[in-house]
Amino acid sequence: MKKILVTGGTGFIGSHTTVELQQKGYEVVIVDNLSNSSEDVIDNITKITGIKPTFGKVDVADKQQLFDFLKKNQGIQSIIHFAASKAVGESVQVPLKYYRNNINGLINILEAMKEFNIPNLVFSSSCTVYGQPEKLPVTEQSPIQEALSPYGNTKQINEEIIRDFVKVNPELHAIALRYFNPVGAHPSSLIGELPLGVPANLVPYITQTAAGIRECLSVFGNDYDTPDGTPIRDYIDIIDLADAHIAAVQRMENNKQKKQLEFFNIGTGNGLSVLQLINAFEKATGVKLNYKIVGRREGDIEKIWADTKFANEELGWKAVAPIEQTMLNAWNWQKHVSGIK
Ligand code: WQD
Repeated sequence: MKKILVTGGTGFIGSHTTVELQQKGYEVVIVDNLSNSSEDVIDNITKITGIKPTFGKVDVADKQQLFDFLKKNQGIQSIIHFAASKAVGESVQVPLKYYRNNINGLINILEAMKEFNIPNLVFSSSCTVYGQPEKLPVTEQSPIQEALSPYGNTKQINEEIIRDFVKVNPELHAIALRYFNPVGAHPSSLIGELPLGVPANLVPYITQTAAGIRECLSVFGNDYDTPDGTPIRDYIDIIDLADAHIAAVQRMENNKQKKQLEFFNIGTGNGLSVLQLINAFEKATGVKLNYKIVGRREGDIEKIWADTKFANEELGWKAVAPIEQTMLNAWNWQKHVSGIK
């Protein structure tokens, strides 16, 4: 059975990817420092798949911790590296925390690949590397623009570090997946997005408003150059996103890569405005959402959605979940977490 390390595996994307990996026959080993998640996620993954992943409470930014753990867990063939700080707004306030954590963490992972003969890496990157694209949809060749936040900058810097490292280590292979906006939850409602405090992202704010935890959703601006004036994003279902990681691992396992480091846009290829997403949520759930239009949010881009041709053709992967199903899964998860029948 192929053994794979998932760093940040108790997080939103990591936990869903672990479930998909186990269901496709991989032995999953998770490391996570639990700074933004809880060990209960391990139990819930086990409830879904019937297989308890090996878990180590490890801070990947601490090289000694990571290496001590890997010495006791040999035979890993691939790493999917999610573990990182990811709050855009926080990264502006405390940039050094983001540079130290996200960059040291990646460097330790790369050194571990050499030390423990782990040939394959999937890196969790982001569409934020494109900033506000001139041309839409964005392809993997669209220009990388100056990062709008230290968080986005750590993604750009880490892509360059991986590029430079694999260049002088021909036995290593890497794929960077540039996610668009991950949303939704597992259909079992046992795992999902669990933002700490007031959600910064749209969908958890929508579901918390629908659950009565938040009074009213603020829609940040309706004076953009879009059909209904609200910003457009490419919202990708979390299960579709998880499956893209498996397709990336298998591409490397089967030596199908055309370059040692490849980039893939992982989105649906469709852009939805904030109001369109709200309508999809209301249609899917039957819940009328309380929202108001307010001013723009600092740092928001106007519109972005992916050209996914390269991922479709080369990874043999395509997003399939209808947005209404994704919204219903998110709502069912919120009801589970909030104890709403
Ligand atoms: C989506 C849209 C907001 C909240 C961020 C990161 C990106 C990625 C995904 C990690 C925007 C609007 C939001 C609210 C609103 N994360 N909005 N009211 O900013 O597109 O992307 O998360 O990789 O890196 O930048 O996602 O969900 O915050 O916002 O109107 O209460 O919803 O203006 O147009 P974003 P988001």
